Amino acid sequence: MTSEIKTLTEYQVWPLPVRLFHWLNLLLVLVLSFLGLVMLFKPELGISGNEAKIGLKTAHVVVGYLFIANLALRLVYGLFAKNHGSLGSMLPGPSTLTALKDYKARIARGESPQYLGHNPKGKLAIGAMLVLMLLIALTGLYRAGTDIYYPPFGSSIQAAIVKDGADAAAIKPYDDTYVDSEKLDSIKPLKSLAGEIHVYAVYLLWLIIAAHIAAVIYAENRRQPGLISAMFSGRKWLGSAPADSDK
Ligand code: HEM
Repeated sequence: MTSEIKTLTEYQVWPLPVRLFHWLNLLLVLVLSFLGLVMLFKPELGISGNEAKIGLKTAHVVVGYLFIANLALRLVYGLFAKNHGSLGSMLPGPSTLTALKDYKARIARGESPQYLGHNPKGKLAIGAMLVLMLLIALTGLYRAGTDIYYPPFGSSIQAAIVKDGADAAAIKPYDDTYVDSEKLDSIKPLKSLAGEIHVYAVYLLWLIIAAHIAAVIYAENRRQPGLISAMFSGRKWLGSAPADSDK
């Protein structure tokens, strides 16, 4: 067993807003997953009654708003940032395929390419997670409108299903008193499609998050030590020239 002492160069790579977004996003996804699983397994958990169902959905939607706000702030930050947190450095683009070929070729030659930002495989995973999170957010908001009449779609859904002559704002969750059943039937296909997309996108997101965590642990151990601590400290120490550009 041999080890080599290298001179390391320190780089500031992840700005504070990127680190805050990352850990807050993880926390919010965990809380939303927990509440989502409780909703999925209500019968098995012995949860019944409309009050409990509405309470669970409301809690999930309120945390959902925080999740969307955090994501929106990150996208706005990424749009203007001139560092490794910019959307251009975070997401896959036209050059990612070439970078991926180069990455694989260097690994095949026994090298360990060092990245200041994400490696090309990481970019693909982040692009996929972002698309899924946007899909989950959009379908979640639509279901928040159809199920508990919460913004931004709630009031237009109430208006679309209200009985003629009744006040749309009087429609309450899980109460059909002022709901026109035919009008309600007309929104059902879109409502159930949104629910299915929401839940399957969540399953896919869980898979990619698991792969992302496994890949980061593997890369930390085999290729680039210090990857995980960089998401806490913001700094990376590289023993060779970075494979991506310094910002
Ligand atoms: C990564 C973030 C999220 C995760 C992991 C997640 C997870 C889940 C899961 C597993 C369900 C299934 C529950 C069921 O079918 O009974 C669900 C349903 C639901 N989610 Fe989310 N969710 C997320 C984000 C959001 C957001 C941002 C909103 C809206 C602000 C939202 C609103 C809803 C609503 C209204 C339902 C009920 C739909 C139904 O009963 O089929 N979710 N969510």
